Amino acid sequence: MNPRKILVTSALPYANGDIHLGHMLEAVQTDIWVRLQKMRGHDCVYVCADDAHGTAIMLSAESQGITPQQLIDKVNAAHQADYAGFSVGFDNFHSTHSPENQARSESIYQALDANGHIARRSITQLFDPEKQLFLADRYVKGSCPKCKAPEQYGDNCEACGSTYSPSELIDPTSTISGATPIEKDSEHFFFDLPQFKDMLRQWTRSGTLQDAVANKLAEWLDDELQQWDISRDAPYFGFEIPGAPGKFFYVWLDAPIGYMASFENLCTRSDYNFDDYWSKDSNAELYHFIGKDIVNFHTLFWPAMLTSANYRTPSAVYVHGFLTVDGTKMSKSRGTFINARTYLEHLDPEYLRYYLAAKLSSGVDDLDLNLEDFAARVNSDLVGKVVNIASRCAGFISKGYAGKLADTLDDVALIENLQAASEEIATHFEKREYSKAIRLIMTLADAANQYINDRQPWVVAKAEPGSENLQRICSTGINAFRILLCYLKPVLPVMAANAERFLAVAPLSWADSQTALLGHTIGKFEPLMTRVEAKKIEAMIDATKAAYAAAAPQESVTAEAITAEEDTAEDSPFAPEIQFDDFAKIDLRIARIALAEHVEGADKLLKLTLDIGHDASGNEVTRSVFSGIKSAYSPEQLTGKLTVVVANLAPRKMKFGMSEGMVLAAGPGKDELWLLEPHDGAQPGMRVT
Ligand code: MSP
Ligand code: ZN
Repeated sequence: MNPRKILVTSALPYANGDIHLGHMLEAVQTDIWVRLQKMRGHDCVYVCADDAHGTAIMLSAESQGITPQQLIDKVNAAHQADYAGFSVGFDNFHSTHSPENQARSESIYQALDANGHIARRSITQLFDPEKQLFLADRYVKGSCPKCKAPEQYGDNCEACGSTYSPSELIDPTSTISGATPIEKDSEHFFFDLPQFKDMLRQWTRSGTLQDAVANKLAEWLDDELQQWDISRDAPYFGFEIPGAPGKFFYVWLDAPIGYMASFENLCTRSDYNFDDYWSKDSNAELYHFIGKDIVNFHTLFWPAMLTSANYRTPSAVYVHGFLTVDGTKMSKSRGTFINARTYLEHLDPEYLRYYLAAKLSSGVDDLDLNLEDFAARVNSDLVGKVVNIASRCAGFISKGYAGKLADTLDDVALIENLQAASEEIATHFEKREYSKAIRLIMTLADAANQYINDRQPWVVAKAEPGSENLQRICSTGINAFRILLCYLKPVLPVMAANAERFLAVAPLSWADSQTALLGHTIGKFEPLMTRVEAKKIEAMIDATKAAYAAAAPQESVTAEAITAEEDTAEDSPFAPEIQFDDFAKIDLRIARIALAEHVEGADKLLKLTLDIGHDASGNEVTRSVFSGIKSAYSPEQLTGKLTVVVANLAPRKMKFGMSEGMVLAAGPGKDELWLLEPHDGAQPGMRVT
């Protein structure tokens, strides 16, 4: 087999925020893929960097009273530590604010310009006269010109959904200084994307993209493509455009070039050669792993820029969905906007790597981290199945045989069966169908456990202690464990390293799954993984909430700066489309609020006791639900009313007790809420369809 030459990237995280579990989904997805390639003997390089430029970073540094350079240095160290904590094995982690990136960005820009792909024209924008800076849409707030809703951002209204330009806002203010913006002209530089329409039509359909992504892009490519504004006026933290004093490259121009720059930086310290990977005739493979919010930058602007500047284009761009926690978007106030560091302070990173792998597919669907399921899954699969195989066999080998495995196996067929799955598992990983790989591995783990159940080494140990039979049974178990570990190693590098130590073997490669360990002396067994404890999960959520509460006052000043990166996808006012089957899973019932009560110590919650009809034997069925409707209703108003409840929502442990469902209410949240109430005649327990 010829080793492949592969260069892989994860998207460059912004240098003004912490790494959170959403970033980690991407890093873990990429890292598993890279580790698989490396284990299979390919020459696979994995680079990343911080995305250090932009207005948000400039403002963030300012509000912390430090220079942008100080901010990005501090954040770079923290980011690297976070990724390392999850065993994300970058071959290089660099920064877009680097000499390599500056030189490369300038030369690419000059190529675009020389090739007639840069246009210049003056545009009018809102300008903050106090801060003396142009305001991106996200930095302007005012009332919606259509529905008059207050406090809307400069590009679209969250209340009525209409889009407009920031100059149309009523009473606009700068979110940075509070000043009233004025209109001001300035010259901007544009990358002439429309010239690449044919190239992009072809490229996006050449097998480089997932179908769902290619289809979405086809819609855009049928519309008019717009020229892309790649310049920003000073003050801006970034690279000044050559020959254009006071003009800077827009952060998204030099960000993807940061992939090249990080690799180039690695080249200066290794035998890798830049041109082997990036020149037009490169025979290396190039893959970008990214989230669904930054598709256009990677599949339109980036391949077009590369083409103009005479570089190769990516072999593929792999897009993943977003991480949600317990079914909803990560939320700071709910404590589910979990930072990588907070997680590491409470839980084993390999739990998360495993859980993500067990749920990841090659699609763009969101992935839910359901915290209960997380604990259950890890405990049952890793602790209950995989580690269990070793722990049930190792003790007999060390006690009875001084750690020496038998020279022959008791059940060759079992081992051959495990070995035979190697290519199928590798293919699932290669295709990013990790959940399929994990499912298959767990089926094999079940077979190994079944084997041990059947052979009952603990019984054999009593009947024939020290026998060759017992040694061969336990050696078969240990060999099964070793093969499973080869397969799980891309996902669980730390557990694999510990197991390699216990097995006293050199680092396992993929090919090692095809051999057996015979007549070999293993080390002492140590527990390889402990169970996930629910109280540690709770502690992590509490810590996340506490950090948010502590940061809240300061956050009101910088929250915009931190979350409002220009040009990332807007949140749609609507949830993603679901299939009828998804809807049919929700058991909506008419409920009678038998009792509504205050909850001691809760500012937002009321405790509702719901009557939801009768069960098969005619007994009344009730549910206790904690509902965040206290600001809108008093208990007296609610008692006796009918409403709608989600009756099959898994019970959730809340601070004040278990909540066994959810009642439906409408409104923008906060203090404005309206409980849904059926027309007269509906009875408790009726299904809502
Ligand atoms: N700086 C840009 C990327 C430049 S790449 C040349 C950026 N940074 S980011 O920090 O906002 O996001 C980095 C990556 O994390 C993106 O791929 C983004 O999709 C991903 N994620 C951010 N939040 C996420 C989730 N909640 N879930 C999964 N991935 C998420 O965009
Ligand atoms: Zn509106």
